Amino acid sequence: MDAELHAAVSADTWAALMDAARAARLQAHAPYSRFLVGAAVLDEHGRLHAGCNVENAAYPQGVCAEAGALSAMVLAGGRRLQAVVVLGDAGGALVTPCGGCRQKLREFGAADLPILIADPQRALARFTLDDLLPHSFGPDHLDLGTTP
Ligand code: THU
Repeated sequence: MDAELHAAVSADTWAALMDAARAARLQAHAPYSRFLVGAAVLDEHGRLHAGCNVENAAYPQGVCAEAGALSAMVLAGGRRLQAVVVLGDAGGALVTPCGGCRQKLREFGAADLPILIADPQRALARFTLDDLLPHSFGPDHLDLGTTP
């Protein structure tokens, strides 16, 4: 089911996700790092949701762009990820999701979830969630748990 969803992501939809992530990045609140990030996700209904990083004077309270996009998706009723774009500008280096965001994506994404890493000009690399978070722990593990 998820594999079929991922295969169905068209070039136009990837372009729309890129546009959404690029626009979201420009809304980032990143006065401390000055490192702006935008993210866009496609849910199981074909809807796009975007987020930007929102930093805080109490540094650890900052929130990544991916987390913002996931919150928007959940608020709108989305529960499954079809595709993800993370967009930043690190002079050609890949702005891949941090460890915490990989786990957050895992909550709503299958192993073959495609994650596109981009800069404002172009897509730079494509990974699956399993590439970025192999041997992961997820909701299915709790379903398999035994009652103590
Ligand atoms: N950041 C994201 O929002 N997403 C990523 O994938 C990498 C890092 C943010 C967190 C922080 O506000 C800034 O980028 C510098 O780490």
